[in-house]
Amino acid sequence: MQVIAVKDKNEMSRKAAELIIETVRQKPNAVLGLATGGTPEGTYRELVADHRQNGTSYQQVTTVNLDEYAGIDPKDPNSYHAYMASHFFNHVDLPENQSYLPNSFDLSEKESKRYDDLIASLGGVDLQLLGIGRNGHIGFNEPGTPLTIGTHIVQLTDSTRKANARYFGSLSEVPERAVTMGIGTILKSKRILLIASGEEKAEAVSKLVHASRPDSSFPASALTAHPDVTVIADEPALSLI
Ligand code: GLP
Repeated sequence: MQVIAVKDKNEMSRKAAELIIETVRQKPNAVLGLATGGTPEGTYRELVADHRQNGTSYQQVTTVNLDEYAGIDPKDPNSYHAYMASHFFNHVDLPENQSYLPNSFDLSEKESKRYDDLIASLGGVDLQLLGIGRNGHIGFNEPGTPLTIGTHIVQLTDSTRKANARYFGSLSEVPERAVTMGIGTILKSKRILLIASGEEKAEAVSKLVHASRPDSSFPASALTAHPDVTVIADEPALSLI
């Protein structure tokens, strides 16, 4: 695991965007695994700015997102479908039929398997972008999730619902369940880029950097089993190292 220490969130966003741009420039038909949340917002801003200024093209790229709330309308502004449209998809030349997110309405095992099969049929993810939850969750894989599992439905923990309530009117409006790529799915990506910013992530980042082996009580530790992981974290996120 390579850890890149940067000063602040802006530098984290720039560095992460540089890596993604490099991937797309080297492989114009790359498959990008994308994440949502507050942390990658600046990265998407940087990608959009680069697309406008330098013309990096997403015409041949395919994107697959990590997760989505269960039961949410893709048009709901709090859905990850809407997040991706407003932060990235609407501003670059990625064809509409080349971006995929988990289906928020079909919660069957068959549909989860279809999502993993789809990723496999694309040749797998070249670069998977990840954030990290305060409890070490990646995607929506909460502590206790088996580390080999594929895409599946999860019951969100209170701490995750509280952390994400800032986007909804109130805690009661935050869905109780979500669909997420499993850790087994994530680990199949060829390269993983995890970004973290702010002191509220310091404990999780410290546990991740010091983890020596996968431990399901701290899902991000699964990344210790992957050969190509880059962590870009800012000074506050690295303050407990
Ligand atoms: C959410 C998302 C994760 C994200 C994490 C951290 O629950 N499902 O993919 O990495 O929380 O979010 P944030 O970047 O807003 O702190």
